[in-house]
Amino acid sequence: MINRNLIASIILVVALTLSVYGQETPKKTLKEAYAGKFMIGTASDVKGLTEAELKSVKEQYDILTPENCMKPQPIHPWETFYYFGVTDSLVDWCQQNGVKVWGHTLGWHSQTAPWFFQAENPVNEETTSQPKRTRMNWDPNAPRLTMDEYWRRSIKGEMASREVALERLEKHIKTVVGRYKGRIIGWDVFNESIEDSGDCTTENLRTWSWYKVVGPDVLNLAFKWAHEADPAAQLYYNDYNIEQGAVANKGKHASSMVLLKRLLAEGVPITGVGIQGHWHLDTDLADVEKAIENYASLGLRVSITELDVTSTGDNSGAFGVRQGDKAIPKENYEKQAEVYKKLFEIFLRHKDVIDRVTFWGVSDTRSWRRGQDALLFDGQLKPKPAFKAVIDASSN
Ligand code: GLA
Repeated sequence: MINRNLIASIILVVALTLSVYGQETPKKTLKEAYAGKFMIGTASDVKGLTEAELKSVKEQYDILTPENCMKPQPIHPWETFYYFGVTDSLVDWCQQNGVKVWGHTLGWHSQTAPWFFQAENPVNEETTSQPKRTRMNWDPNAPRLTMDEYWRRSIKGEMASREVALERLEKHIKTVVGRYKGRIIGWDVFNESIEDSGDCTTENLRTWSWYKVVGPDVLNLAFKWAHEADPAAQLYYNDYNIEQGAVANKGKHASSMVLLKRLLAEGVPITGVGIQGHWHLDTDLADVEKAIENYASLGLRVSITELDVTSTGDNSGAFGVRQGDKAIPKENYEKQAEVYKKLFEIFLRHKDVIDRVTFWGVSDTRSWRRGQDALLFDGQLKPKPAFKAVIDASSN
């Protein structure tokens, strides 16, 4: 009887040390594995995380990027009203738990309230308090608007002049950066300025939002103001798909090089480039490596700022192209692990210029790509084959 119990206990212990994917869980955490090489980060607003998720953030990561709460719209919904509550708690929690914070994002065309661009902003009860959550009335028959049209429609009345819009942006940047000075180590100063297609021999900036109201020098000024507000902070330009075309010197990568060269030539205090890294099973890894080399050749630091690799084969940006009941084949998780391994091998080859590799979420269910199982931990925080691959890559 005793022997039977003993054997049963041994089997149980062995089973518990194996993950659901049938692999032994590596003993090291991500940040331990990459200590001295580059920082490992995650993204979350912290608020609403479970105890287990908080524990995972503390154990696995050096640094955290607020996923949403610092974007211009949530933190500054009205001209006369900032909402710092969630960010203040996040920064406090990170400080208490030895996790650094990266700021995201000061300037962006998306998730930026229309008041920045309106000539007049009414001051009333509504615009001096936290916006209420409103349900969007979705009309499936309405004509599909381009982002540009959508943006124009959101602006009420006359458009603000360049001077007025800039005055607001300066106040916004100096207030937000100033509030967290010394507690946030660096900022995505501008996010996603480059168009997805178009003339890759130019910087090919978007033609609406800040780029319409102000023009290309909105980036120069934003970096200048962020630097004035916290001279010690690292300041990054952040974008997606900017590695694409690096080998052939085409596409969004070529535009990013034109833009960055101009900013550097004009004396803009830019520290580095954030390659977001929203990738998939067939991402062109040669482009990733060449892009890192090209940015380094400009004297810039590089970070991978929003890493996730879909395991479904999809490449949609996707706020969760939900899979429904569609199961993801087991071999896809192995392929995903292989892609992560190769990516980390690239990052290690360039560890001298890479400051940080940040995963965009703490688990597959805390991910904008929910349903595409793009991260290292599943919804129960169990490490996937990709986790082991990333840990193993660190010791090669
Ligand atoms: C972009 C932004 C992020 C986030 C993702 C989707 O990459 O930079 O802040 O909105 O899209 O989560």
